[in-house]
Amino acid sequence: MGGAAARVMTRCDELAAFSEEPDRLTRRYGTAALRQAGESVARWMREAGLAVQRDAVGNVRGRREGPPGAKTLLLGSHLDSVRDAGRYDGPLGVLTAIEAVSALSSTTLPFALEVYAFAEEEGLRFHTSYLGSRAVTGTLDAATLAMRDAEGRSVAEVCREFAGDPANLAAARRDPDDLLGYLEVHIEQGPVLERRGLPVGVVTDIIGQGKELLTFTGIAGHAGTVPMNHRADALATAAGFVSAVERIGRETDGLVATVGRLTVEPGAANVIPGRVTATLDIRHARDEIWQGAIAAACQAAREAGALRGVQVESQTVMQTPAVRCDSRLVELLASAVATTGIEPLRMVSGAGHDAVPLSRITPVAMLFVRCAGGISHNPAESVMAADVAVAFDVLTNAVRNFPVG
Ligand code: HGY
Ligand code: MN
Ligand code: MN
Repeated sequence: MGGAAARVMTRCDELAAFSEEPDRLTRRYGTAALRQAGESVARWMREAGLAVQRDAVGNVRGRREGPPGAKTLLLGSHLDSVRDAGRYDGPLGVLTAIEAVSALSSTTLPFALEVYAFAEEEGLRFHTSYLGSRAVTGTLDAATLAMRDAEGRSVAEVCREFAGDPANLAAARRDPDDLLGYLEVHIEQGPVLERRGLPVGVVTDIIGQGKELLTFTGIAGHAGTVPMNHRADALATAAGFVSAVERIGRETDGLVATVGRLTVEPGAANVIPGRVTATLDIRHARDEIWQGAIAAACQAAREAGALRGVQVESQTVMQTPAVRCDSRLVELLASAVATTGIEPLRMVSGAGHDAVPLSRITPVAMLFVRCAGGISHNPAESVMAADVAVAFDVLTNAVRNFPVG
């Protein structure tokens, strides 16, 4: 197996060492760990012959010029992670793209090439996602810049410290007329490829997603002296909401619904919880279904609150409609897969990716790579170097044959 795949694997290991936490991989937007990862990627981009710059949100961009006036094909993925993450979710796509550009360094191409290492995709710090690719598409609005992390720091404050004055974010925005498209390699994060015995698959659609933040406000009280029928227990109310979310998810075909984070205040064993926040992540291939499910979940929360005298508020954090990948780019990837002698399986992504925001300004397509057990967002996440070698061949082939005009 070629040097490219081996380098990708080794470099994923090197990047995994850059973490905010000593004993697990966590790399949020705006942290020193992310800066260090970006510096390594910048070095590897330069070694691949790319001109590197860091944009106004902190994305690292490596560019190979094309003929005068030529458009640009974008490749890449993200460098940030979830908490206690695997090491391939994001970096695999960035590093495979660098290898493909390097492999084509002596090939004349009728376009420029750029690799993005996006600074934030996961939403771990601020719950809203895609800060890196939304800066590129010009959709980082004031409401998003005002969102705050658990320490009360806003996106704008963290951006200022990490990448520079948020007033300059417009400079990160790309002109759609300059772009040919965006291709992203990413681990599948699901079991389909493994079950089908395939190393790679071509993504045709990315499901739609809604994120809400719910706040349950009751009355903190003494666990020993307040009778059960006199309580306004915020956590008991939130528990009713969580059960309703699971029920809605199980009852609706093709829907996934998750409450991933709860905060409980004041958080003492002998105090009735007075205030609880809960995240809600709901997804489906059809927008009207996930939107309806969010409404039903929030209604269930309000009903649970009414039963207990607990006030319930919901805030929409982000909504991204389902994305259809560009059929021409899907066919390009599918024929590149077929050229390697592998059946080009077409598949839907249940995970969100930087291709989602980018699809607003340029045609997108994605190549999935098999991951063991479909496990992801988990340190057990793993890929085989042989499959990475296939993904590298496919991406390189697709770029070489990219249809211009
Ligand atoms: O949540 C997602 O689907 C992605 O991992 N950000
Ligand atoms: Mn990812
Ligand atoms: Mn992820």
